[in-house]
Amino acid sequence: VNRTPLIAGNWKMNLDHLQAVAFVQKLHWTLKEAKHESESVEVAVFPPFTDLRTVQTLLDADKIDFALGGQDLSAHDSGAYTGEISGQFLAKLDARYVIIGHSERRQFHHESDEVVAAKTQAALRHGLVPVICVGETSEDLEKFGASAVPVGQLEVALEGVASDADIVVAYEPVWAIGSGQAATPDQAQEVCAKLRAVVADKLGADAAARTRILYGGSVKSGNIAGFMREPDVDGALVGGASLVVDEFAAIIRYQK
Ligand code: G3H
Repeated sequence: VNRTPLIAGNWKMNLDHLQAVAFVQKLHWTLKEAKHESESVEVAVFPPFTDLRTVQTLLDADKIDFALGGQDLSAHDSGAYTGEISGQFLAKLDARYVIIGHSERRQFHHESDEVVAAKTQAALRHGLVPVICVGETSEDLEKFGASAVPVGQLEVALEGVASDADIVVAYEPVWAIGSGQAATPDQAQEVCAKLRAVVADKLGADAAARTRILYGGSVKSGNIAGFMREPDVDGALVGGASLVVDEFAAIIRYQK
């Protein structure tokens, strides 16, 4: 199976809707000037909720081939949940993806594996592709090794997911996020292979062959190629480097 690589930019709480327009236009032109073949790599951006409508309008008007995603969603569909965003709102803005269970949500908003599973179900109910994030902290790494925690997190998230569901998994070791200290390609490959085995176990061999597994954590233009050479790494979830046009463009244009 040929898995289209996915390079995803998680803006986190950065870029307001005006800055977002300038950023997306500049990224588009930078890639265009470099004659980047957009078919070879799928590019996705995950702006803050308040930017989504503006970015959607721009992508549409300028025929820019970036996929759009939300950084989170509610496990509920509608109702008295002040401050929450429903999957149906994201779907109506043509969002294709939604990040679920990012370590910052797990850490700062106390999202449990069960909440992550409920949000995964909510995403799928609304036709969104969940980008399910898993990863170990440095304490987990010391105590249990690299793969036990992410494997356990993914097992819970995939509970009750149909075998034909379209999902993306992101392996993000928490110690590598924003630290400048990325995992090595070998380390990423080892855990991503184990995560693929979890997908095989829960959803079947076809799903495992089709599902893209991303690495995230201090990805930059200088280390992306090493990750992309690994057989079980199908792309990257990029934080800090996705906010710098030239750097993100260089990541998208990686050469193996
Ligand atoms: O979602 C993205 C990750 O948290 C990685 O962030 O590239 O700034 O390390 P980073």
